[in-house]
Amino acid sequence: MRFDPRFCPNATRVLGLDAITYGGDYNPEQWPREIWHEDVELMVRAGVNMVSVGIWSWAKLEPREGEFDFEWLDYLLDLLHKGGIRVDLATPTAAPPAWFYKNYPQARVVTRDGTVLTNASRGMAAPSSPDYQRACANVTRALAQRYGNHPAVAMWHVHNEYGAPVSDSYDNASRDAWRIWLAQRYLTLDGVNEAWGTSFWGQTYYEWDEIPVPAISATVTNPSMRLDYARFSSDAVLGCYLQERDIIKEHSAAPVTTNFMALNCPSMDLWAWAQEVDIVSNDYYLEAADPRGHIKLALDSDLTRSIARGKPWILLEHSTSGVNWQDRNVAKKPKEMARNSLSSVARGADGIMFFQWRAARFGAEKFHSAMLPHAGVRSRVFREVCDLGAALGELSQAGVAGSSVPAEVALLWDWESFWAQDLEWRPSIDAQHRERTLAFYTQLWEDKVTVDFAYPEQDLSAYKLVIAPASYLLTDAGAANLADYVRGGGKLAVSFFSGVVNENDTVRHGGLGAALEDVLGLRIDEFLPLRSGDSYTLLAEGKLADACVASVDARIVGGKLRGDVWADDLDVQTAEIMARYLDGPKPDGAAITRNLLGQGAAWYVSSRLVGADLAAFLDAVYLDAGVSPRRDLPADFEIVTRASRDESGDRFTFLINHTEQVVDYVSGTIVENLIPGGEQASAAVAVPPGEVWVVREHA
Ligand code: GAL
Repeated sequence: MRFDPRFCPNATRVLGLDAITYGGDYNPEQWPREIWHEDVELMVRAGVNMVSVGIWSWAKLEPREGEFDFEWLDYLLDLLHKGGIRVDLATPTAAPPAWFYKNYPQARVVTRDGTVLTNASRGMAAPSSPDYQRACANVTRALAQRYGNHPAVAMWHVHNEYGAPVSDSYDNASRDAWRIWLAQRYLTLDGVNEAWGTSFWGQTYYEWDEIPVPAISATVTNPSMRLDYARFSSDAVLGCYLQERDIIKEHSAAPVTTNFMALNCPSMDLWAWAQEVDIVSNDYYLEAADPRGHIKLALDSDLTRSIARGKPWILLEHSTSGVNWQDRNVAKKPKEMARNSLSSVARGADGIMFFQWRAARFGAEKFHSAMLPHAGVRSRVFREVCDLGAALGELSQAGVAGSSVPAEVALLWDWESFWAQDLEWRPSIDAQHRERTLAFYTQLWEDKVTVDFAYPEQDLSAYKLVIAPASYLLTDAGAANLADYVRGGGKLAVSFFSGVVNENDTVRHGGLGAALEDVLGLRIDEFLPLRSGDSYTLLAEGKLADACVASVDARIVGGKLRGDVWADDLDVQTAEIMARYLDGPKPDGAAITRNLLGQGAAWYVSSRLVGADLAAFLDAVYLDAGVSPRRDLPADFEIVTRASRDESGDRFTFLINHTEQVVDYVSGTIVENLIPGGEQASAAVAVPPGEVWVVREHA
């Protein structure tokens, strides 16, 4: 797998997957060959060591069904190889050629409302279509046979962003596969009827072929059925990936990946998917409308590292500047691209790649930024691309690649729960898992507390604190695991509308919060959602009151917090009350509680708290759990540490200054500053506005 040094023009630059990978999607089929030569020269200048090739090339590789043209790709791979640029070779199955849709019209995607999608764009065919699967297998096999041992090929890139833009289809092949999937899951029709509660609204099925796909019906479709269809669809798409991966593995030893969209493609269960790739890779684009978009980027990075189970991962796509598909595609400010990229490295990425190398002159994405923009090598963006390549080279030399990202806190994240909660007819449209997760994450980010994400059934014992911002669906095993975690000494904080249903979206016999009653020491008599815009006051008691007194935030006065969106009528059993509602739908009722269980404790917050109110709540929880926030530094000064896995004890601390002021950071143990051009660091460093400094410290 190591790069052949004969082709390395710069001996200090380490190429290949053993170093930090740097590059982008490369679509040379859009350009004449003389440009390809210039591309390779400029890639070398920029420090690029890998490009993703062939993602959209099916129509060029297989112009007619079964007839392949590899001449151009042979030429390209040899050219890249001679230039020392490694290749992440894609299977092109995210864009079937026109002949495919003409020959197999039945393989087109059918949306939930019955629309049949046409081609003239990109986007896969119906995932369960045997015609699509056969065509994918053929082109994948042809590529793998030809290039499986090509020296340029460092990695395989299967498909592109599975699940986007197509995650589910309601065509006939999907319907047939769905019935088989159900038979495998439930074995009998009785099992299906029971899981879906079909006695409600007279939906009982007596024959397998009576079961429809959950397309749009007269009113709300059975929610348990829709939840299963979401599971089926994730599995069906995963099946497409597995078929291609297994074919590649027959012909190549190179690692296989597929680019996830951990945060922005909610339809794939990536806890399951991530087990099937050799390297986790991920795509993320900033939301230009959000001036603090770097926080969601950080969330996405932490989530990606978590699905990779702490192993290094690759940011396979992000943008050098503005994208083209948002309403207002704001250009990145000078150095913002470096801050984004190095934040991802700080959070475990060992590869930084972009869409795309050279800006496209035509097509839907001609206004998307690129590493080499339309303005060419003289542009600010290209200069910054070269600077970033140099910085990543330094970090590689220093041994950052391969190091881990320690975290003491876990946030629960469960795609199945999110699918269920997003269905219709919930108690309040304001109770949103994404909003709650982001609110908790944002406060932790501002407090410089690094978090992992975890699923409820996994071993949580290594964490000092586990937070469940939105665990609407909780399996019995998940609930038992949380209870064991607390009994064993863990601290748990649960936010409202959690533990409500089991895996079938069914309320447990015994109450709305039955799954967590013992761990939280309370029962939920009734949900009390609020009208839009209404809010209420909570009065803190006990440990929470102490945290409010200690709070430096002037907005917290007299232990009073504001809450909105939600309240519960709580019947407190063994828990201690930490705050009561002063007004709202249940004056004097318990609002926040803490329950001792075994060696640990579990907090429950029945209100939607934001900003300073959420910070005060978390302060009390941090203190309980022994977690130390950093409130002495500006909120938008990001600090993350990677720890070497070897005996050196090296720690690489990334100081990312998103503010417009110089920020002083003091550490007694700094050894050196790793970013080119930065001063040699002493015990205190002053990070200029917009800059990123990476310092090596000893533990
Ligand atoms: C990604 C996609 C790329 C490109 C990019 C533009 O989702 O994988 O091919 O379209 O968006 O931002």
